[in-house]
Amino acid sequence: MTIHFIGAGPGAADLITVRGRDLLAACPVCLYAGSVVPSELLAYCPEGARIVDTAPLSLDEIEAEYVAAHAAGHNVARLHSGDLSIWSAVAEQMRRLDRLGIPYTLTPGVPAFAAAAAVLGRELTIPEVAQSLVLTRVSGRASVMPEGETLAAFGRTQATMAIHLAVHALDRIVAELTPVYGADCPVAVVARATWPEERVVTGTLATIEALLAENPIDRTAIVFVGRGLAAEGFRESALYDAAYQRRFRGRESL
Ligand SMILES: C[S@@+](CC[C@H](N)C(=O)[O-])C[C@H]1O[C@@H](n2cnc3c(N)ncnc32)[C@H](O)[C@@H]1O
Repeated sequence: MTIHFIGAGPGAADLITVRGRDLLAACPVCLYAGSVVPSELLAYCPEGARIVDTAPLSLDEIEAEYVAAHAAGHNVARLHSGDLSIWSAVAEQMRRLDRLGIPYTLTPGVPAFAAAAAVLGRELTIPEVAQSLVLTRVSGRASVMPEGETLAAFGRTQATMAIHLAVHALDRIVAELTPVYGADCPVAVVARATWPEERVVTGTLATIEALLAENPIDRTAIVFVGRGLAAEGFRESALYDAAYQRRFRGRESL
């Protein structure tokens, strides 16, 4: 008996991995994270599967589901939105399973930031403009940011930022980042990427608050900030340069 943690992807049901879908179809128990996992995905569960929405459950109650499935010898598919490696609360569940001696596996998923970049039609790393991506958030009710992990500190590198769990705090984002990126720095807000209600609002640090004021977005959105979001005249990557290919032909690309 095994608990299979599965990244369900950003929303669209066909953005789960083949491995994740096959595990889902093979498990008689499925726990899923409420409204952030699309109901179409649950159609992959086998007939008669026990399907539990964990949104209203405490961690103790989720643990009780794992213990009951373990006692019954039933494999569990545990769906979390996006990928498991960021803000999935998988770490605390794995720690409990380790204590209980219940085995588990992890299957990655398409993270929301990657889906949102695809919606924007942008690459987030642009030669000589931005070569790093900061995945971050702001302090919220559920967790406080560690000291030093401030937007302004990350912004000083001029990297592209993908700010999660933070669209309700757009005023704080603008106030902290305007002094470091400049008021004309591009901003893109992507809400519910790949869901039917997907929305994109683009502007700058100077304009984004007004653009969203009339038709606000208050959850499930990523706020991208960075010069790379609107870069046009950038140098082409050396990777596909003819001279570079001759020199490194037959060698693994780094
Ligand atoms: C608890 S975190 C989960 C992140 C997830 N594990 C991932 O890999 O993307 C939830 C936040 O992810 C972002 N998010 C999740 N799904 C999204 C989507 N479809 N479109 C835009 N942002 C999304 C939002 O910032 C949301 O507040």
